[in-house]
Amino acid sequence: MSPADGAAPTVFRESARDGEREAFIARLRGGDRPFRDSDGSWVVSRFEEARAILLDPGRFSSRGPEGGFPLLQDDPPRHTALRGLLQKAFTPGRVEAMRPEIETIARSLAAAIPSGEKIDIVAAFTSPLPVIVIARMLGVAESDRDRFRDWSNRFAGAGAAEGVDEVQALALMEMSAYLGAELAKRRVDPGDDLISALARAEEAGVTLNDNEIISLSVLLLVAGNETTTNLLSNLMNRFAAYPEEWRALRETPALIDGAIEEILRVDSPVQFTVRYARADVEVGGVGIKAGEPVFVYLAAANRDPAKWSDPDTLDMRRERGRQLAFGLGVHMCIGAPLARLEARAGLAALLERFETVRFGEGSRPRTTAALLRGFQRLPLVLA
Ligand code: HEM
Repeated sequence: MSPADGAAPTVFRESARDGEREAFIARLRGGDRPFRDSDGSWVVSRFEEARAILLDPGRFSSRGPEGGFPLLQDDPPRHTALRGLLQKAFTPGRVEAMRPEIETIARSLAAAIPSGEKIDIVAAFTSPLPVIVIARMLGVAESDRDRFRDWSNRFAGAGAAEGVDEVQALALMEMSAYLGAELAKRRVDPGDDLISALARAEEAGVTLNDNEIISLSVLLLVAGNETTTNLLSNLMNRFAAYPEEWRALRETPALIDGAIEEILRVDSPVQFTVRYARADVEVGGVGIKAGEPVFVYLAAANRDPAKWSDPDTLDMRRERGRQLAFGLGVHMCIGAPLARLEARAGLAALLERFETVRFGEGSRPRTTAALLRGFQRLPLVLA
């Protein structure tokens, strides 16, 4: 989840711009070994190779030449210490304890959607849900939610056709200033929230300066919002295109988990992650030199025909296999249980209230960032 979308190989940028992601994934998957893009980075698209790289931080570093976010772009042992610090807030038990609250938020957002009228499901539902949840976890004022959403959107490059770097940099500055002020408040008056937990890092034997705490808080904000929004938007897009699946879910709610796992697999909200070879290595029959970047293309690995039969077909009843939408190994998404819970609660609330879903008039622009798969806007009519 590199914030620097510009770091993606040229081939990814083209595919994102032309809206030809499907064709691009098919082409990637056609290869039987890692290939080298024109800018010198490697692209790995097969499941087994992707898996092996993610499970091997000893040979493949997450740390780029210019560093990056603490945790996400740290390697063990520092990664291990930072992860331990945050992990407590994201255990299945802690996340499960938030279920009633998340269900209430989802129901109240669903209740505010007018039946039979065209709405943008992104603005009305899929974006606010994760923003409200993470704002509560960070312990920031509910009234600042809109600013959170605006920052997340701008950071993800949503809607910005040009000048994404400047838009991102400005959003990052504003977020950092805001979270810096929140951190100062917590130092005086700590609470039970994530920012206070980070402020107490030293007690857990981790040394973090204020800038690092702020970067970690920013990471939580940007890693969890746009991704979960996209997961829910991709689901709703799917049901507008396949209304019989919506009906099936209303009749058999037990299929909800299968629908979520399958949309994560075929429409992976995070399309790739990057590693750097620590020494000369061989992957799938090609030699990769020390320091060279390797794009682990999760979205292609998730459709590897060697791993799944009929890989492009979304099948809610498919026997679950391990898919890579949340990554794997030491960096595997810490927010995965939360994202799954939000998706489940969100989908259940909409299913409860609406019998049908269809596309509304108007365009459905995809997110422009090559890293992500989702929608800027998705007009729907729910009734
Ligand atoms: C559908 C939603 C989500 C998807 C698809 C997703 C995907 C990912 C992936 C693929 C990684 C691994 C990156 C790598 O190996 O380099 C990751 C890491 C991470 N995610 Fe998520 N994520 C989602 C939601 C969330 C949420 C809700 C949060 C928190 C509120 C979150 C926080 C993080 C953090 C902090 C990391 C870094 C973990 C580490 O490096 O140890 N994510 N995510």
